Amino acid sequence: MIWFFDSWIGGLTVLEEFRKILPEYNYLYFGDNARCPYGGLDDTTIRQYTEEGVQFLFDQGATIVILACNTATAHAIRYLQQVKFPDRKILWVTIPGAERILEGNYRKVGVLATESTVKNRAYKDRVHIIDNTIKIQEIAAPELVPLIEAWIFEWELIREILKNHLDKFDWDIEAIVLGCTHYPYVRSTIEQIRPGIDIIDPGFEAAKKFASYLGRHPDIEAKIKKRGEVRKVWSKM
Ligand code: DGL
Repeated sequence: MIWFFDSWIGGLTVLEEFRKILPEYNYLYFGDNARCPYGGLDDTTIRQYTEEGVQFLFDQGATIVILACNTATAHAIRYLQQVKFPDRKILWVTIPGAERILEGNYRKVGVLATESTVKNRAYKDRVHIIDNTIKIQEIAAPELVPLIEAWIFEWELIREILKNHLDKFDWDIEAIVLGCTHYPYVRSTIEQIRPGIDIIDPGFEAAKKFASYLGRHPDIEAKIKKRGEVRKVWSKM
């Protein structure tokens, strides 16, 4: 089984990308709908909620956890990996997303994300470790997650919010990173506002990298159950 964690339905977009490339595996998805959205919470609270979510999965017997949430990753990944679960396998989406920026040879990139992901410079810092000449601007779009979670797809409203944020990018950006797992739900509206722009979906990038990782680790691959089943668990039923 491959185990996923996110604050609610956002990570389902990541799960879908995994299932497109790796449909044969069993997946379990845990969404913390009781406490979503995480995006406007303080650092300590996000870290605590993320730790509890990941701990829950390890308590259920998880062997590989995909931390699908950008916000949770930005605040907790270093702590989870280095302090809390140093011997466990946790993978996340921001590195594959940042790697795609580098692989695409982009010079000017915009990132849309939650407030706390932007505050933590999740993509900018990662890319600038390798190449600090790439211009990265990270903009928060805090209105989107609550609307998507409430399943309010009033397209005029979503369009107006997105246009307002996309207009904030200072340069003529070549690509936009969907820096929150909820944003693939509104991808087509972004494409309408900025036709022809490259869209980087870190969930898709993570799925590709994970498939290649499994190819290089047949011992780990052999242990994952393959019946193509998906189970979803929520903190509030
Ligand atoms: N889906 C999360 C992300 O990728 C954030 C949603 C939230 O604010 O809880 O950043």
